[in-house]
Amino acid sequence: MPKKINRFIGAIQLPGDKSISHRSLIIGSQATGIVKISNLLESGDIFSTIQCLKKFGIKIIKKKKDYFVYGQVVGGLEKFNGTLNCGNSGTTARLLLGLLSTYPYTIKFIGDRSLSKRPMGRVIDVLKNFGASVKPSNKNNFPLTFQGSFVGLQTDYKLKVASAQIKSAFLLAALNTPGISSIEENFDTRDHTEIMLKYLGAKIQVKKKSQKKIIFLEGKMPLDAKDIYVPGDISSASFMIVLALISKNSKILIKNVLLNPTRTGILDALKKMKAQIQIKNKRLCSGEIVGDLFVKSSKLRSLTIQGEMAPRLIDEYPILFIAALFAKGTSKFYGIEELRFKESDRIETMKEGLSKVGINIKSTKSSVEIKGNKNFNVLNNTVIDAKGDHRIAMSFKILSEAINKKFKIKDFQYVQTSFPTFTKIIKNLKKN
Ligand code: S3P
Repeated sequence: MPKKINRFIGAIQLPGDKSISHRSLIIGSQATGIVKISNLLESGDIFSTIQCLKKFGIKIIKKKKDYFVYGQVVGGLEKFNGTLNCGNSGTTARLLLGLLSTYPYTIKFIGDRSLSKRPMGRVIDVLKNFGASVKPSNKNNFPLTFQGSFVGLQTDYKLKVASAQIKSAFLLAALNTPGISSIEENFDTRDHTEIMLKYLGAKIQVKKKSQKKIIFLEGKMPLDAKDIYVPGDISSASFMIVLALISKNSKILIKNVLLNPTRTGILDALKKMKAQIQIKNKRLCSGEIVGDLFVKSSKLRSLTIQGEMAPRLIDEYPILFIAALFAKGTSKFYGIEELRFKESDRIETMKEGLSKVGINIKSTKSSVEIKGNKNFNVLNNTVIDAKGDHRIAMSFKILSEAINKKFKIKDFQYVQTSFPTFTKIIKNLKKN
Protein backbone atom coordinates (compact mmCIF):
# COMPACT_ATOMS: atom_id res chain seq x y z
CA MET A 1 0.00 0.00 0.00
CA PRO A 2 1.47 3.44 -0.87
CA LYS A 3 2.46 5.48 2.16
CA LYS A 4 0.02 8.23 3.13
CA ILE A 5 1.30 11.76 2.67
CA ASN A 6 0.27 14.81 4.65
CA ARG A 7 -1.05 17.94 2.96
CA PHE A 8 -1.35 21.29 4.72
CA ILE A 9 -4.08 23.66 3.62
CA GLY A 10 -5.77 26.66 5.16
CA ALA A 11 -5.60 30.27 6.36
CA ILE A 12 -3.93 31.09 9.65
CA GLN A 13 -3.23 34.06 11.88
CA LEU A 14 -0.15 33.82 14.11
CA PRO A 15 0.49 35.08 17.63
CA GLY A 16 2.36 38.37 18.00
CA ASP A 17 6.03 38.71 17.17
CA LYS A 18 8.20 37.78 20.15
CA SER A 19 10.75 40.59 19.75
CA ILE A 20 8.06 43.26 19.40
CA SER A 21 6.03 41.79 22.29
CA HIS A 22 9.00 42.11 24.68
CA ARG A 23 9.65 45.66 23.52
CA SER A 24 6.00 46.74 23.79
CA LEU A 25 6.00 45.74 27.47
CA ILE A 26 9.45 47.07 28.36
CA ILE A 27 9.24 50.35 26.43
CA GLY A 28 5.55 50.66 27.38
CA SER A 29 6.60 50.56 31.05
CA GLN A 30 8.50 53.82 30.43
CA ALA A 31 5.61 55.68 28.76
CA THR A 32 3.66 58.52 30.33
CA GLY A 33 0.26 56.81 30.68
CA ILE A 34 -1.40 53.53 29.75
CA VAL A 35 -0.24 51.60 26.68
CA LYS A 36 -2.76 49.19 25.15
CA ILE A 37 -1.13 46.21 23.44
CA SER A 38 -3.11 44.06 21.01
CA ASN A 39 -2.04 40.61 19.76
CA LEU A 40 0.70 40.33 22.39
CA LEU A 41 2.41 36.93 22.25
CA GLU A 42 1.28 34.87 25.24
CA SER A 43 4.26 32.58 25.74
CA GLY A 44 6.78 31.62 28.41
CA ASP A 45 9.38 34.19 27.35
CA ILE A 46 6.86 37.03 27.36
CA PHE A 47 5.47 35.95 30.73
CA SER A 48 9.06 36.13 32.04
CA THR A 49 9.25 39.78 30.94
CA ILE A 50 5.85 40.56 32.50
CA GLN A 51 6.80 38.94 35.83
CA CYS A 52 10.11 40.83 35.94
CA LEU A 53 8.53 44.23 35.17
CA LYS A 54 5.90 43.72 37.86
CA LYS A 55 8.68 43.58 40.49
CA PHE A 56 9.33 47.27 39.76
CA GLY A 57 5.71 48.28 40.40
CA ILE A 58 4.64 48.16 36.75
CA LYS A 59 0.96 47.25 36.56
CA ILE A 60 0.16 45.00 33.59
CA ILE A 61 -3.35 43.65 33.17
CA LYS A 62 -5.29 41.73 30.55
CA LYS A 63 -8.80 42.85 29.56
CA LYS A 64 -10.57 40.66 27.02
CA LYS A 65 -7.79 39.97 24.47
CA ASP A 66 -5.67 43.09 25.06
CA TYR A 67 -2.95 43.88 27.55
CA PHE A 68 -2.62 47.24 29.33
CA VAL A 69 0.74 48.45 30.62
CA TYR A 70 0.59 51.28 33.14
CA GLY A 71 3.66 53.27 32.17
CA GLN A 72 5.64 54.79 35.05
CA VAL A 73 7.50 57.37 32.88
CA VAL A 74 11.17 57.24 31.86
CA GLY A 75 13.27 56.60 34.97
CA GLY A 76 10.19 55.79 37.06
CA LEU A 77 10.71 52.13 37.99
CA GLU A 78 10.03 51.52 41.70
CA LYS A 79 12.91 50.35 43.86
CA PHE A 80 13.51 46.58 43.88
CA ASN A 81 16.65 44.89 45.15
CA GLY A 82 15.99 41.21 44.64
CA THR A 83 16.04 38.36 42.14
CA LEU A 84 14.81 38.50 38.55
CA ASN A 85 14.13 35.15 36.91
CA CYS A 86 14.41 35.48 33.12
CA GLY A 87 13.56 31.81 32.51
CA ASN A 88 14.67 30.72 29.03
CA SER A 89 14.54 34.21 27.56
CA GLY A 90 17.72 35.90 26.31
CA THR A 91 15.72 38.94 25.20
CA THR A 92 14.19 39.43 28.67
CA ALA A 93 17.65 39.13 30.21
CA ARG A 94 19.56 41.43 27.91
CA LEU A 95 16.90 44.12 27.46
CA LEU A 96 16.25 44.31 31.21
CA LEU A 97 19.98 44.54 31.94
CA GLY A 98 19.94 47.57 29.64
CA LEU A 99 16.84 49.12 31.20
CA LEU A 100 18.13 48.62 34.75
CA SER A 101 21.68 49.79 34.14
CA THR A 102 20.70 53.39 35.01
CA TYR A 103 18.84 52.57 38.26
CA PRO A 104 20.87 52.29 41.50
CA TYR A 105 19.40 48.86 42.30
CA THR A 106 21.25 45.64 43.11
CA ILE A 107 19.63 42.78 41.26
CA LYS A 108 20.41 39.10 41.02
CA PHE A 109 19.69 37.84 37.51
CA ILE A 110 18.93 34.14 37.10
CA GLY A 111 17.67 31.91 34.28
CA ASP A 112 17.11 28.28 33.34
CA ARG A 113 19.87 25.84 32.35
CA SER A 114 19.93 27.04 28.73
CA LEU A 115 20.00 30.78 29.60
CA SER A 116 22.67 30.19 32.26
CA LYS A 117 25.04 29.01 29.52
CA ARG A 118 24.55 32.04 27.26
CA PRO A 119 27.06 34.90 27.13
CA MET A 120 26.07 38.03 29.06
CA GLY A 121 29.53 39.64 29.14
CA ARG A 122 28.92 41.05 25.65
CA VAL A 123 26.00 43.12 27.02
CA ILE A 124 27.46 43.96 30.42
CA ASP A 125 30.67 45.31 28.84
CA VAL A 126 28.56 47.80 26.89
CA LEU A 127 26.49 48.79 29.94
CA LYS A 128 29.61 49.44 32.02
CA ASN A 129 29.98 52.60 29.90
CA PHE A 130 26.77 53.90 31.51
CA GLY A 131 28.20 53.20 34.99
CA ALA A 132 26.73 49.73 35.65
CA SER A 133 28.79 46.89 37.15
CA VAL A 134 28.52 43.19 37.89
CA LYS A 135 29.52 40.84 40.70
CA PRO A 136 31.68 38.78 40.47
CA SER A 137 33.33 41.37 38.21
CA ASN A 138 34.43 38.89 35.53
CA LYS A 139 31.13 36.95 35.45
CA ASN A 140 29.91 36.28 31.92
CA ASN A 141 26.90 34.07 32.70
CA PHE A 142 23.81 33.98 34.91
CA PRO A 143 23.47 33.80 37.87
CA LEU A 144 25.11 37.15 38.51
CA THR A 145 24.47 40.28 40.55
CA PHE A 146 23.99 43.44 38.57
CA GLN A 147 24.47 46.92 39.99
CA GLY A 148 22.98 49.84 38.07
CA SER A 149 24.42 53.36 38.27
CA PHE A 150 22.97 56.37 40.17
CA VAL A 151 22.95 58.42 36.99
CA GLY A 152 23.55 57.06 33.49
CA LEU A 153 26.72 58.39 31.87
CA GLN A 154 26.35 59.66 28.30
CA THR A 155 27.92 57.09 25.94
CA ASP A 156 28.95 56.78 22.28
CA TYR A 157 29.58 53.21 21.24
CA LYS A 158 30.34 51.11 18.16
CA LEU A 159 28.57 47.73 18.16
CA LYS A 160 31.07 44.86 17.88
CA VAL A 161 28.70 41.87 17.72
CA ALA A 162 25.78 41.75 15.27
CA SER A 163 23.18 41.63 18.02
CA ALA A 164 19.90 43.50 18.25
CA GLN A 165 19.71 42.55 21.90
CA ILE A 166 22.95 44.39 22.67
CA LYS A 167 21.86 47.38 20.57
CA SER A 168 18.50 47.42 22.38
CA ALA A 169 20.13 47.13 25.81
CA PHE A 170 22.22 50.17 24.88
CA LEU A 171 19.17 52.17 23.75
CA LEU A 172 17.21 51.31 26.90
CA ALA A 173 20.16 52.49 29.00
CA ALA A 174 20.44 55.68 26.90
CA LEU A 175 16.72 56.35 27.34
CA ASN A 176 17.28 57.16 31.03
CA THR A 177 20.66 58.88 30.59
CA PRO A 178 20.98 62.68 30.41
CA GLY A 179 22.22 63.97 27.05
CA ILE A 180 22.39 62.38 23.60
CA SER A 181 24.01 58.93 23.45
CA SER A 182 24.82 57.21 20.17
CA ILE A 183 25.44 53.72 18.87
CA GLU A 184 26.95 52.79 15.52
CA GLU A 185 26.24 49.49 13.79
CA ASN A 186 27.57 48.00 10.60
CA PHE A 187 25.15 45.06 10.54
CA ASP A 188 21.47 44.83 9.62
CA THR A 189 20.16 43.73 13.03
CA ARG A 190 16.44 43.99 13.79
CA ASP A 191 15.37 47.58 14.45
CA HIS A 192 12.14 47.15 16.43
CA THR A 193 13.48 49.11 19.41
CA GLU A 194 14.25 52.13 17.23
CA ILE A 195 10.87 51.89 15.48
CA MET A 196 8.92 51.62 18.73
CA LEU A 197 10.81 54.45 20.42
CA LYS A 198 10.12 56.68 17.41
CA TYR A 199 6.46 55.61 17.35
CA LEU A 200 6.13 56.65 21.01
CA GLY A 201 7.67 60.06 20.33
CA ALA A 202 11.25 59.53 21.61
CA LYS A 203 13.93 61.97 20.46
CA ILE A 204 15.65 59.40 18.25
CA GLN A 205 17.47 59.97 14.98
CA VAL A 206 18.92 57.36 12.68
CA LYS A 207 21.64 58.42 10.23
CA LYS A 208 22.53 55.94 7.48
CA LYS A 209 25.62 55.89 5.28
CA SER A 210 25.83 52.77 3.05
CA GLN A 211 26.12 49.80 5.47
CA LYS A 212 26.86 52.06 8.45
CA LYS A 213 24.08 53.28 10.71
CA ILE A 214 24.35 55.64 13.71
CA ILE A 215 21.45 55.94 16.12
CA PHE A 216 21.26 59.04 18.35
CA LEU A 217 18.91 58.99 21.34
CA GLU A 218 18.29 61.85 23.75
CA GLY A 219 17.68 60.47 27.22
CA LYS A 220 15.37 61.60 30.03
CA MET A 221 12.71 62.67 27.50
CA PRO A 222 9.09 61.50 27.91
CA LEU A 223 7.47 58.74 25.86
CA ASP A 224 3.84 58.99 24.70
CA ALA A 225 1.35 56.29 25.66
CA LYS A 226 -0.07 54.97 22.37
CA ASP A 227 -1.84 51.78 21.33
CA ILE A 228 0.46 49.11 19.91
CA TYR A 229 -0.64 46.28 17.61
CA VAL A 230 1.90 43.44 17.54
CA PRO A 231 2.10 41.86 14.05
CA GLY A 232 2.25 38.06 13.60
CA ASP A 233 5.69 36.58 14.27
CA ILE A 234 7.67 35.97 11.07
CA SER A 235 9.99 33.58 12.93
CA SER A 236 6.98 31.44 13.89
CA ALA A 237 5.58 31.84 10.36
CA SER A 238 8.79 30.38 8.91
CA PHE A 239 7.95 26.93 10.35
CA MET A 240 4.55 26.93 8.64
CA ILE A 241 6.04 28.33 5.42
CA VAL A 242 8.64 25.55 5.19
CA LEU A 243 6.03 22.93 6.12
CA ALA A 244 3.85 23.98 3.16
CA LEU A 245 6.84 24.25 0.80
CA ILE A 246 8.22 20.76 1.47
CA SER A 247 4.88 18.94 1.69
CA LYS A 248 3.01 17.85 -1.43
CA ASN A 249 -0.19 19.60 -2.64
CA SER A 250 -0.14 22.16 0.15
CA LYS A 251 -1.08 25.83 0.20
CA ILE A 252 -1.47 28.16 3.12
CA LEU A 253 -2.30 31.80 3.70
CA ILE A 254 -0.66 33.47 6.72
CA LYS A 255 -2.30 36.76 7.60
CA ASN A 256 -0.84 39.85 9.32
CA VAL A 257 2.80 38.78 9.35
CA LEU A 258 5.61 41.15 10.34
CA LEU A 259 7.55 42.09 7.18
CA ASN A 260 10.18 44.41 8.61
CA PRO A 261 13.14 44.09 6.15
CA THR A 262 15.54 43.35 9.05
CA ARG A 263 13.53 40.14 9.63
CA THR A 264 12.61 38.96 6.12
CA GLY A 265 15.91 37.24 5.32
CA ILE A 266 14.06 33.91 5.48
CA LEU A 267 11.71 34.99 2.66
CA ASP A 268 14.64 36.17 0.53
CA ALA A 269 16.52 32.93 1.15
CA LEU A 270 13.51 30.73 0.34
CA LYS A 271 12.72 32.74 -2.78
CA LYS A 272 16.30 32.17 -3.95
CA MET A 273 15.51 28.47 -3.47
CA LYS A 274 12.57 28.94 -5.89
CA ALA A 275 9.92 28.81 -3.19
CA GLN A 276 6.47 29.93 -4.27
CA ILE A 277 5.72 32.68 -1.77
CA GLN A 278 3.57 35.70 -2.59
CA ILE A 279 3.33 38.78 -0.41
CA LYS A 280 0.02 40.61 -0.44
CA ASN A 281 -1.68 43.50 1.31
CA LYS A 282 1.47 45.24 2.63
CA ARG A 283 0.70 47.99 5.14
CA LEU A 284 2.04 49.88 8.17
CA CYS A 285 0.99 48.94 11.67
CA SER A 286 2.31 50.78 14.78
CA GLY A 287 5.34 51.78 12.71
CA GLU A 288 6.06 48.23 11.45
CA ILE A 289 5.46 46.76 7.97
CA VAL A 290 2.88 43.96 7.92
CA GLY A 291 1.42 41.80 5.13
CA ASP A 292 -0.15 38.48 4.16
CA LEU A 293 1.84 35.54 2.83
CA PHE A 294 0.53 33.01 0.35
CA VAL A 295 2.70 29.86 0.21
CA LYS A 296 2.48 26.80 -2.07
CA SER A 297 4.34 23.45 -2.25
CA SER A 298 7.51 24.05 -4.25
CA LYS A 299 10.38 22.28 -5.94
CA LEU A 300 13.28 23.79 -4.02
CA ARG A 301 16.83 24.40 -5.26
CA SER A 302 19.93 24.71 -3.09
CA LEU A 303 21.42 28.10 -2.18
CA THR A 304 24.57 29.69 -0.77
CA ILE A 305 24.29 32.42 1.86
CA GLN A 306 27.13 34.59 3.14
CA GLY A 307 27.43 36.00 6.67
CA GLU A 308 26.18 39.52 5.88
CA MET A 309 22.70 38.09 5.58
CA ALA A 310 22.87 36.23 8.93
CA PRO A 311 21.37 38.91 11.24
CA ARG A 312 18.26 39.07 9.01
CA LEU A 313 17.49 35.37 9.45
CA ILE A 314 19.41 34.43 12.56
CA ASP A 315 16.52 32.57 14.24
CA GLU A 316 15.42 30.85 11.03
CA TYR A 317 18.53 28.81 10.22
CA PRO A 318 17.32 25.58 11.89
CA ILE A 319 14.15 25.47 9.77
CA LEU A 320 16.09 26.64 6.70
CA PHE A 321 18.42 23.64 7.19
CA ILE A 322 15.32 21.42 7.05
CA ALA A 323 14.22 23.16 3.82
CA ALA A 324 17.74 22.59 2.40
CA LEU A 325 17.31 18.82 2.86
CA PHE A 326 14.41 18.95 0.41
CA ALA A 327 16.29 21.06 -2.16
CA LYS A 328 18.11 19.87 -5.26
CA GLY A 329 21.86 20.38 -4.81
CA THR A 330 24.09 21.36 -1.90
CA SER A 331 23.28 24.43 0.20
CA LYS A 332 26.04 26.36 1.95
CA PHE A 333 25.62 28.68 4.90
CA TYR A 334 28.61 30.84 5.86
CA GLY A 335 29.27 33.30 8.71
CA ILE A 336 26.82 31.72 11.14
CA GLU A 337 28.98 31.45 14.29
CA GLU A 338 26.33 33.38 16.27
CA LEU A 339 24.15 30.23 16.04
CA ARG A 340 26.44 28.71 18.64
CA PHE A 341 25.21 31.24 21.26
CA LYS A 342 21.47 30.74 20.98
CA GLU A 343 19.14 28.69 23.24
CA SER A 344 21.48 25.82 22.31
CA ASP A 345 24.51 25.58 20.03
CA ARG A 346 22.21 25.38 17.02
CA ILE A 347 24.83 24.09 14.58
CA GLU A 348 25.68 21.18 16.88
CA THR A 349 22.10 20.44 17.98
CA MET A 350 20.84 20.33 14.38
CA LYS A 351 23.79 18.20 13.32
CA GLU A 352 23.23 15.70 16.13
CA GLY A 353 19.47 15.59 15.55
CA LEU A 354 19.81 15.04 11.82
CA SER A 355 22.34 12.26 12.34
CA LYS A 356 19.62 10.46 14.34
CA VAL A 357 17.41 10.37 11.24
CA GLY A 358 20.22 9.16 9.00
CA ILE A 359 21.38 12.52 7.60
CA ASN A 360 24.95 13.73 7.89
CA ILE A 361 25.70 17.39 7.39
CA LYS A 362 29.10 19.08 7.23
CA SER A 363 29.99 21.90 9.57
CA THR A 364 32.86 24.13 10.68
CA LYS A 365 32.93 26.63 13.56
CA SER A 366 31.03 29.14 11.43
CA SER A 367 29.48 27.29 8.48
CA VAL A 368 27.19 24.45 7.49
CA GLU A 369 26.86 22.51 4.24
CA ILE A 370 23.72 20.47 3.53
CA LYS A 371 23.19 18.16 0.60
CA GLY A 372 19.58 17.75 -0.50
CA ASN A 373 18.66 14.27 0.68
CA LYS A 374 15.27 12.77 1.36
CA ASN A 375 16.59 9.33 2.36
CA PHE A 376 15.66 9.54 6.01
CA ASN A 377 16.20 6.57 8.23
CA VAL A 378 13.88 6.81 11.20
CA LEU A 379 13.76 3.87 13.58
CA ASN A 380 10.87 3.28 15.98
CA ASN A 381 12.82 4.40 19.01
CA THR A 382 14.52 7.46 17.47
CA VAL A 383 14.85 10.25 20.04
CA ILE A 384 15.98 13.75 19.06
CA ASP A 385 17.24 16.00 21.83
CA ALA A 386 16.17 19.64 21.37
CA LYS A 387 18.41 20.62 24.32
CA GLY A 388 16.00 23.20 25.77
CA ASP A 389 15.76 24.93 22.38
CA HIS A 390 12.27 25.71 21.10
CA ARG A 391 13.33 26.36 17.50
CA ILE A 392 15.16 23.03 17.24
CA ALA A 393 12.12 21.22 18.66
CA MET A 394 9.81 22.90 16.12
CA SER A 395 12.19 22.27 13.20
CA PHE A 396 12.20 18.53 13.88
CA LYS A 397 8.44 18.45 14.36
CA ILE A 398 8.05 20.06 10.90
CA LEU A 399 10.37 17.41 9.46
CA SER A 400 8.38 14.63 11.09
CA GLU A 401 5.10 16.01 9.69
CA ALA A 402 6.53 16.49 6.20
CA ILE A 403 7.89 12.95 5.94
CA ASN A 404 5.02 11.52 7.99
CA LYS A 405 7.31 9.63 10.36
CA LYS A 406 7.06 9.76 14.11
CA PHE A 407 10.08 10.31 16.34
CA LYS A 408 10.33 11.48 19.89
CA ILE A 409 11.54 15.04 20.48
CA LYS A 410 13.05 15.47 23.93
CA ASP A 411 12.39 18.93 25.46
CA PHE A 412 9.49 19.54 23.06
CA GLN A 413 7.76 21.43 25.90
CA TYR A 414 10.17 24.35 25.26
CA VAL A 415 7.97 25.27 22.27
CA GLN A 416 5.88 27.02 24.95
CA THR A 417 8.56 29.71 25.26
CA SER A 418 7.75 31.22 21.86
CA PHE A 419 4.86 29.49 20.09
CA PRO A 420 2.35 27.72 22.38
CA THR A 421 -0.22 27.27 19.57
CA PHE A 422 2.31 25.59 17.22
CA THR A 423 0.97 22.03 17.47
CA LYS A 424 -2.68 23.11 17.29
CA ILE A 425 -2.08 25.19 14.16
CA ILE A 426 -0.37 22.28 12.39
CA LYS A 427 -3.24 19.97 13.35
CA ASN A 428 -5.79 22.39 11.91
CA LEU A 429 -3.86 22.71 8.64
CA LYS A 430 -3.34 18.99 8.21
CA LYS A 431 -5.48 17.24 5.60
CA ASN A 432 -4.74 13.59 4.84
C1 S3P B 1 16.29 39.17 19.39
C2 S3P B 1 17.48 39.26 18.73
C3 S3P B 1 18.24 38.10 18.26
C4 S3P B 1 17.37 36.85 18.20
C5 S3P B 1 16.53 36.69 19.41
C6 S3P B 1 15.62 37.89 19.62
C7 S3P B 1 15.66 40.42 19.86
O1 S3P B 1 19.32 37.87 19.13
O2 S3P B 1 18.17 35.70 18.01
O3 S3P B 1 15.70 35.53 19.29
O4 S3P B 1 14.46 40.40 20.19
O5 S3P B 1 16.33 41.45 19.88
P1 S3P B 1 20.70 38.64 18.91
O6 S3P B 1 20.35 40.05 18.70
O7 S3P B 1 21.52 38.46 20.15
O8 S3P B 1 21.33 37.99 17.71
